[in-house]
This record gives sequence, structure tokens and C-alpha cells, in this order.
Amino acid sequence: MSVTVIVGTQWGDEGKGKITDLLAREMDMVVRYQGGNNAGHTVVIKEEKFILHLIPSGIFYPKVTCVIGNGVVVDPAVLLQEIKTLQGKGFNCENLKISAQAHVIFPYHRDLDLAQEKNREAGRIGTTARGIGPCYVDKFNRRGIRIGDFFHEDIFRQKLEWNLAEKSFLLNNFYDYKVSYDADKIQKEYFEYFRAFQSLVIEESTSLINEAISKNKKILMEGAQGTMLDVDQGTYPYVTSSNPIAGGACIGAGFGPQEIDEVIGVVKAYVTRVGGGPFPTEISGEIGDLLRERGGEYGATTGRPRRCGWFDGVVLRHAAKINGLTQLAITKIDVLDALETIEICTAYECEGKVIEDFPTDLAKLEKCRPIYEDLPGWKEDLSKITDYRNLPLNAKKYIDRLAELAEAKVSLISVGAERGQVIRL
Ligand code: GDP
Ligand code: IMO
Ligand code: MG
Repeated sequence: MSVTVIVGTQWGDEGKGKITDLLAREMDMVVRYQGGNNAGHTVVIKEEKFILHLIPSGIFYPKVTCVIGNGVVVDPAVLLQEIKTLQGKGFNCENLKISAQAHVIFPYHRDLDLAQEKNREAGRIGTTARGIGPCYVDKFNRRGIRIGDFFHEDIFRQKLEWNLAEKSFLLNNFYDYKVSYDADKIQKEYFEYFRAFQSLVIEESTSLINEAISKNKKILMEGAQGTMLDVDQGTYPYVTSSNPIAGGACIGAGFGPQEIDEVIGVVKAYVTRVGGGPFPTEISGEIGDLLRERGGEYGATTGRPRRCGWFDGVVLRHAAKINGLTQLAITKIDVLDALETIEICTAYECEGKVIEDFPTDLAKLEKCRPIYEDLPGWKEDLSKITDYRNLPLNAKKYIDRLAELAEAKVSLISVGAERGQVIRL
């Protein structure tokens, strides 16, 4: 096994951080390949809880090289803060490498994110307001500033001035969002951040990754967000601005697709979503509240309450197909312990027709109603079980049904937030 990709199969927050940390122990390298500090990946080690936004979740093992890949967008202030927090807790972060090709988030990206959301009124995406979308826009529009530009102060300055002029005009005149930027101040501030982590920046991150591949090292690609938030394959436009899906790993880390051996889909035993956009199996009322409270479903990045719903087999089937899932890691099954009956959506009904493939047309999706199958609950505490044989029969049946819908085998079952609360198959 050389390259394994970990992807979220829903709308993010499936527990990718926990699964990455768990598998990282056996890895040589962990790479974040897309997204930015819109992500919040939680790792719980004994009583200590860590929320990682940019740094790969393998950072707790000093022997594991952790790479922030070329496909990530980096807010330097957030990165520095994250490094400092980890260092304060005894993790020196010397095993962290940052790609010089990664793009940098500036204050105008965050301002544009806020201004655009305000401008969208009713059609708001409900972004994390971290400037992610506008930073990727600049990347694709070839106006972006990359980490590597800090090595050339004159080029950096030129690009910064150009961007400040463009963005100030747009914000003040089109969005009626009043800003006034000071190029000297921003440059000074950003170079201070850069100097603080400069020793971790590597010019050739793709060489480092490909060298590890050629030496048959064990590499884990840690996706952020999830399949349904993918800009191409998700519920567009209610998505993020990158490709969290498995194919995105090749682009955001820089290696060939034939090197991928395993794709692990992280599947929460029910579904959540933060922000706007369609969510066919969403449930409100008592059960929705129960899932939110038992599952602690509040955003790890923004603290927003997450919308909760029943497990959606149509979404999982879509994720299995798009990512080529070879394994499933089912998380948070313990959250369902309290339920008498659990519902699983196996297909949608749309204008009298049964649909098994996730519709790409949001107007059609609006008309879809989930078709549910009832499964009996187990009403037992799963949180201390570490051996599959000790799981109640109804929990095994639930897990089997999810695997059947994805046509993939289950390799991990997570029964609690802590590192050790897991059943390996
Ligand atoms: P990520 O973005 O996919 O890494 O997921 P988040 O960290 O945003 O959200 C997952 C939340 O569930 C975090 O608070 C985790 O500590 C917690 N968690 C992960 N796995 C489990 C589990 O199996 N059971 C329970 N109860 N909580 C879990
Ligand atoms: P992790 O990696 C859940 C959502 C936002 C919003 C949409 C676009 O922790 O699973 P953006 O700021 O990216 O432009 O927002 O995407 N979103 C996430 N939802 N988990 C995440 O990351 C998310 N990152 C972005 O809520 O709906
Ligand atoms: Mg999260």
C-alpha cells in the first residue's frame, strides 16, 4: 500500500480528522490537498481536543511528514496560530512542510467573501467567511499570490498592489462594502508571518511527495470538506470552491492517479450539513435536535449549529461512484444508540419515479422525496466496544446495509470521538 486517500462522503464533518489521526500512526506522510481554514478537523487524544484547520491530522506523530500541498489555500495568520497552539502543547511541528505553490489568503479575500454573501441575499451559500472562494477565484484567474512569492519581495509587492487596486474598486463601487487597504501595512504584517514559518516552506512539494511514492512510503491524502461540497460533483452552487473528491488529491498534491491504492470514504452514520443548500433527508424537531445534541453537531470552525438528517444512501452511492471508494470508515454510530427505530434513505421519489442517482439539477432535487427503510435500533451503549463481535446484532445489520448501498467494505467503525474508540475490521 502506498497512497491512500481519505474523503468525506457527505457535506463535510464526517470525522475525517479522527480517521486520519488513527491511520497516520502507520504512515510516513500525510498530505492536505485542497481547501483551507474553512475545514475544522477534530482529533481527541485522551482528554485533549485539537481542532486542525490547515495542518494535516498526522501532526501528532513526529515521524510522520505532514505536507500542506499545492492545492491548499493558506491564511498565514491562521497557520501561524495553529503552529503556536500545537507547539504550546508539546508538538514542535518540525515535521510540517508547506508547499511554495499554495495560494495565500489576504484580507481582501475575506472582505469579498462577506460582501458577496451579503449581495446574494436569499441565495446565500452560508460560507465560512474565511475568504476561500475569492482566493481560489484569483488562483484560477491567474492573479493569485503564492507562498513562493514571499521569496521575491518586489514581485510580491507588485502583485499585492495590483490586487489591492482591483479589489478596493470592486468592494467600494460594486458591492458598496467600504474598505481602505494599506499596502505597506499588509506587506509588513504578511512578511512577519512568513518569516515565522519560512523554515517549513518547501519549493518542491511535488518532488517530495513523488520521491516518497517511488520509495514505496505509506502516504495518506487527507481530504477536507466532502463529496457533496465538491465544486464539480456537489450541490452546485451550494458547495466549496475546490475538489475534495479523491481525484482532487492528484491535482492538489501533484502525483499520478495510478499511484492511488485505496480510497477510504468517511461516512457519518447519519448526515449533517452547515450552511445553505439542498439536504433531502434533513429532519427537524425532536429527532433532529437529539442527533445535534448527542453528536455535538456544532461547527468546528464557525460554531454554527449543523443541520441534521437521516442517513442518505443516494448520497453515499454518488460518493462511492465519484471517488471510487474501496473502503468505508463509519463514524458516530454511537450517536444513534438512543433511537428506537432508525431510518435509512435508499432512493428518492421524484414525480412518481424512483431515482437512485443523485440529481445534478437542483430544481429536480427540490422535488425529490426520500424513500425510507426502517431499521430497528439497538438501544445499547456502543462507545466502549472495540471488538466487532461484541456489537449488537441490530448495529451490525445497520452497518451491513450502509456497506451494501456503497458496494464497498467497511474497514473501520468509530464509536466515539477519542482516538481509541474504534473497531477495526
Ligand atoms: P471532520 O471535519 O470530518 O474532521 O469532522 P469534525 O471534526 O468537524 O466533526 C466531527 C465531530 O465528531 C468532532 O467533534 C469529533 O470529535 C466527533 N467524532 C468523530 N468521530 C466520532 C464518533 O465516532 N463518535 C462521536 N460521538 N463523535 C465523533
Ligand atoms: P471539513 O473539512 C462542513 C461549507 C460551508 C458552506 C460551503 C462553502 O471540516 O469537513 P466556503 O467557506 O468553503 O466557501 O463555504 O461549504 N463548508 C464546510 N462544511 N465542513 C467543512 O470542512 C466545510 N468547509 C466548508 O459551511 O456551506
Ligand atoms: Mg469539520
